[in-house]
Amino acid sequence: VEAIEAMARDEGALGLPHPAIPLPVDLYGAARRNSTGLDLANEAQLRELAHELAEAAQRPPLQPRQRVPDASATEIAAALQRAADHASAWAAVPASERAQRLEATADRLQRDMPALMALLIHEAGKTAANAVGEVREAVDFLRYYAAQVREQFHNATHRPLGPVVCISPWNFPLAIFMGQVAAALAAGNVVLAKPAEQTPLVAQAAVQALWDAGVPREAMQLLPGDGATVGAPLVADPRVMGVLFTGSTEVARLLQRALVGRVDALGRPVPLIAETGGQNAMIVDASALAEQVVADAIASAFDSAGQRCSALRVLCVQDDVADRVTGMLLGAMAELRVGDPARLATDLGPVIDAEAHAGIQRHIDAMRARGHRVHQAWHGAGEALPPGHFVPPTLIEIAHLGELGREVFGPVLHLLRYRRDELDALLAQINATGYGLTLGLHTRIDETVARVLAAARVGNVYVNRNMVGAVVGVQPFGGEGLSGTGPKAGGPLYLYRLLSQRPADGAQ
Ligand code: NAD
Ligand code: ALA
Repeated sequence: VEAIEAMARDEGALGLPHPAIPLPVDLYGAARRNSTGLDLANEAQLRELAHELAEAAQRPPLQPRQRVPDASATEIAAALQRAADHASAWAAVPASERAQRLEATADRLQRDMPALMALLIHEAGKTAANAVGEVREAVDFLRYYAAQVREQFHNATHRPLGPVVCISPWNFPLAIFMGQVAAALAAGNVVLAKPAEQTPLVAQAAVQALWDAGVPREAMQLLPGDGATVGAPLVADPRVMGVLFTGSTEVARLLQRALVGRVDALGRPVPLIAETGGQNAMIVDASALAEQVVADAIASAFDSAGQRCSALRVLCVQDDVADRVTGMLLGAMAELRVGDPARLATDLGPVIDAEAHAGIQRHIDAMRARGHRVHQAWHGAGEALPPGHFVPPTLIEIAHLGELGREVFGPVLHLLRYRRDELDALLAQINATGYGLTLGLHTRIDETVARVLAAARVGNVYVNRNMVGAVVGVQPFGGEGLSGTGPKAGGPLYLYRLLSQRPADGAQ
């Protein structure tokens, strides 16, 4: 606790001068506000978690390193050789034993919840509620893939690919990082993981938990550093037999090009699983329940300060109800508290760094300069925002989806009005963005649901609810088109891409 509190006093990349991280955190309070997977009705479970948290706070904390040096070219070369040398040893470990080690890691993450939450708050600017959701999601990934290999994949029928590179983003530095490596390890592949440069401490804590649970260091190697200097040479190495990437569409394209012509030991193309960005819309017709629309739009656009790939970017409202919905939405935005993510009352913490802040601000300024109406509302608007990389909840009116440009990864929602007879044209506009990650729909007309489901080219459609926080094993998550290659993370097909269906003993 002392180590984490000391770290919290340092000015981090988030630009918060003194982000106080009180521990133990009141999980019960945090969980009541959390929409990412806890059963809020189950008070007994929440109390038990709060108890768990308080107990865990008494244990020695993780020892995070304040500075994480980039992996050098020599370390990268050595890691690749170690991975190649150790691939068959990890592949030979029985699937049930690999599963058991992942489950032990999940137990460990649950035990370390408070320390991990503090790290997520400090390093990634997560709110306490988002930090709870993130640890839970990482645990879910570990248990889900462990259960899958236990039940479906046996060494006698499947063999892994070999060394696999996992490259992850900063916005889910624990859940997505762990989801990728858990899948690869469960399938029997050795992993070279390159975490986002913004969040190496969280990745280090995750890897430490895997090592402590019995995953060999040679099977799970962490190579922190920049994409170009560490990620690119890993992907370029011919010994690498698979790449799992989550991040921007632009970087996914680079990786795809780097893998052209590369084949695995069986002469098949080296697989790339890329999960990328979105320009996600929510369609609201005049039959929708306005109160529910507003609650779901707020959660979808502004939770995690809009830094979710699944986040709502364009709210498309039928013009008959648009004024009413917009008025209510601005009222709800004015209730959102922006500030220190360590405070339980905070709804929106900072965006990840100065560069992200500047990019989001540039988009808002450019839209304003082009004549779009820009609304900003938050609790205490009028007073200055606290020091740090904060962007207040923002709503920008647009007339066509083509005006959006690139994905803006922050708390910026666009509003588009459409006429009732324009639904098909609207769906065509949404598909024409080329992205296809999430789509929300609010309507009480069954025929509209059927029409939208038939036309939409997106991975995940959410009807009459929010559109973030897909639950592992229940809502497999992944996009189409520019948003991803599939198979969906946390779904039954994911591991098939990481295995070959032939016996491990060499029989064809
Ligand atoms: P990013 O593409 O900038 O970086 C992602 C990772 O790729 C980082 O680890 C980075 O260091 C690495 N990288 C960058 N250049 C590289 C190169 N040339 N070679 C190898 N690796 C390289 O993305 P980000 O800013 O970290 O994350 C935000 C993006 O991720 C958003 O576009 C968001 O929509 C997307 N995202 C998608 C999902 C999903 O499941 N579809 C989930 C979370 C985030
Ligand atoms: N899986 C995350 C979500 O659904 C990205 O919001």
